[in-house]
Amino acid sequence: MKLKGSVLIFLLGVMGIGLFWRADISPYFTLLAKRPCVCDRCLSEGDSLFDQRFSKFDEPFLSVNYNLSEDNFNWWKDIQGRGQILSVYREKVERLFQLVPASAHVEASSPDRCRTCAVVGNSGNLMKSHYGPLIDFQDFVIRINRGRTKGYEADVGNRTTHRVMYPESAVDIDNTTIPVLFPFKLTDFDWFMKALSTGPSGRKSKFNKDLVMLLNPAFMRYVHVMWLQKKGHYPSTGFMTVVLALHLCDEVHVFGFGADSDGNWSHYWEQLRDKKLKTGGHPGGEEYKMIVELSKHQILTFYTGW
Ligand code: C5P
Repeated sequence: MKLKGSVLIFLLGVMGIGLFWRADISPYFTLLAKRPCVCDRCLSEGDSLFDQRFSKFDEPFLSVNYNLSEDNFNWWKDIQGRGQILSVYREKVERLFQLVPASAHVEASSPDRCRTCAVVGNSGNLMKSHYGPLIDFQDFVIRINRGRTKGYEADVGNRTTHRVMYPESAVDIDNTTIPVLFPFKLTDFDWFMKALSTGPSGRKSKFNKDLVMLLNPAFMRYVHVMWLQKKGHYPSTGFMTVVLALHLCDEVHVFGFGADSDGNWSHYWEQLRDKKLKTGGHPGGEEYKMIVELSKHQILTFYTGW
């Protein structure tokens, strides 16, 4: 009798293990393992493409103590093709840091955070897209250059938490928007200094100097080398912003990227004037392919219009 009981318990045990095995229990173990964020899928959760390219760049923004290497400076000065001197660069940056915070305020990722970001490029494919609410729904809405919202809210939304710009592409912003300044040449630092007191247009608004973030020229090189395998002259502002978002956010949604049917980078708010624009000096096709690939690997979500 005792033996029968033991056999029964043994058989029930084997059946239990079998059932337990057949059921997909992996999600429960995943839940128990410490995850880097609370999104459905966190950016750094193992993907070979991600691991290859995304050797996380520690200092995407300049800070008062950051020392740009000569090597990185030489790459940066070549993108503008003008004679520029490292010691002059250092002086200008030092002067700027007397006015703006010593380092950009970037909140470190944490296991109980899921920060979502919308990166909004300026492609004509946003027209009639009705992406507005989806863009505004994200925690951060990062717009680029002259990307407009007024009159285009249904397609592009109306919130802007960050505005990426450089002197030639600058627009006025309110004092709650974070100015993310991309320096492409030495004189850009003079312009940034001036815009702190006069505003980008010299009239309406000033940059909120306490929010200023200055892109590190070495980050531009990193994007060119690691993400584009040195293709093209240097990466576009938009593509660098996508990679930047992969460093700041836990979940990245990309809108407004893609040339028109003639291969031009036309804008959603205006008729294209220069029919030979193509993608400027940037490797637009490569950048697009990379965004598509990242989307296939579920590293970001890419919205291509209708
Ligand atoms: O034209 P603009 O440089 O202001 O656009 C911002 C960014 O949006 C570009 O740097 C580019 O990466 C992206 N863009 C795009 N397709 C377009 C227009 C812009 O991918 N048709």
